[in-house]
Amino acid sequence: MIVLGIESSCDETGVAIVKNEKKILANVVATSLKLHSRHGGVVPEIASRMQLESIVSVFVEAIKIAKIKPEQIDLVAVTSHPGLPGSLMVGVSFAKALALALEKPILGVNHIYSHVYANVLCHSNIKFPAVALVVSGGHTSLFYINDFSKIQVLGQTRDDACGEAFDKVAKIMGLGYPGGPLIEKIAKDGNKQKIKFACSGMDNELDFSFSGIKTAVLYYLKNKKTGIKLNRDLAASFQESAINVLVKKSLLACKRKKVSNLLIGGGVAANSCLREKFITHAKLAGIKCFFPDIKLCMDNAAMIAGFGANIYKHGARSDLYLKM
Ligand code: KG4
Ligand code: ZN
Repeated sequence: MIVLGIESSCDETGVAIVKNEKKILANVVATSLKLHSRHGGVVPEIASRMQLESIVSVFVEAIKIAKIKPEQIDLVAVTSHPGLPGSLMVGVSFAKALALALEKPILGVNHIYSHVYANVLCHSNIKFPAVALVVSGGHTSLFYINDFSKIQVLGQTRDDACGEAFDKVAKIMGLGYPGGPLIEKIAKDGNKQKIKFACSGMDNELDFSFSGIKTAVLYYLKNKKTGIKLNRDLAASFQESAINVLVKKSLLACKRKKVSNLLIGGGVAANSCLREKFITHAKLAGIKCFFPDIKLCMDNAAMIAGFGANIYKHGARSDLYLKM
C-alpha cells in the first residue's frame, strides 16, 4: 500500500510517500522557521501563507523523489489535528483536492500520535504494549500503546509544553527562536548543578507542569547581571531539571503499566542530553528506550503517512467532509 502523507500543523510543510506502513520513499519538508525567528515564536499568519505558497512544489518534489505516479497512491493521509487552524486548513484542503482528483480515500490523523509512530519507521524490534512520551513544542504527553488505534493517555502537561518551556526560557535569556537547540548548545559548557529548579507536584503523578521552572528562570535572572557564564549555567541547570522530570515520569509510567519498551518522540527528543539520560536511566530500570532519527523527531509527513497507513488497516476512515 502506498500512502501519501501531508503535514502542515505548525511552521513546516511536509509531503511524504511511505510504502507498506514503514518504507519511506520520499520525505520532503519545507520550513518557514527563519521567517519567525525575529518575532521570537511562530506567527500563524506567516506560517500559513508560506504553506500555501510551497505545498504544490513540495508535493511535486516528493512524487519525483519517490519515482511514482500520483495514480499509484492508495491513500491520502493528512494531519487534521491538533495544530494552527490556518496551517491545518492548507494541508487538509490540499489533501481533499488530491483525494477527489485521484478518486482515492482520505484519512485525517492525529499529529501527536504520529510523533510516536516515527519510532516504528526507524526500528523493527519494538515490543508492544509500550509506553510513549511525546515532547514537542505544543505537547508533553505520556501514552500507553497496545495497538495504534487504541491509544490511552496516561498523563499530560497542565500548562506549558516542554519544548515551549525551552523556547520561552531561550527568549527570556535573549537567545532567539527556536529555543531548544540554542539552549542545548550553550548548556554544553555550563554547570548543570549550579541552580536547582524544582518542578511543581501534580495530583496525577504522570502529569507535567513546566511553567514553574520557566518563571523560576525569569525571577532568577531579574536580580542578576546576565553574562555568558551565567547564561551557560542557567541553560544547563534548566535543561537538567526539565529532562530529569521527563525521565522520572516516563520510567514511573513504564513501571505502573509493567512494560519494558519506551518510545520517545517530538522535537525535544532531538536533544542529545535527553537521549543520553533516558538511555542510561532506562537501562538501569531494565527498560529499552527508542528514539526516531533526528530528522523524524521534527515535524515531518513520513510519520503522518506511516501512522495513517497503520490505523487505516485497523479500520480508521474519513471522508471529504473531514474537519480539522
Ligand atoms: O515536534 P516539533 O518539531 O513541533 C511540534 O509539534 O511542536 O517540536 C518543536 C519543538 C520546539 O519547541 C523546539 O524548541 C524543540 O522542539 N526542540 C528542542 C531541540 N530541537 C527542537 N528542544 C530541546 N533540544 C533540542 N535539541
Ligand atoms: Zn510536532
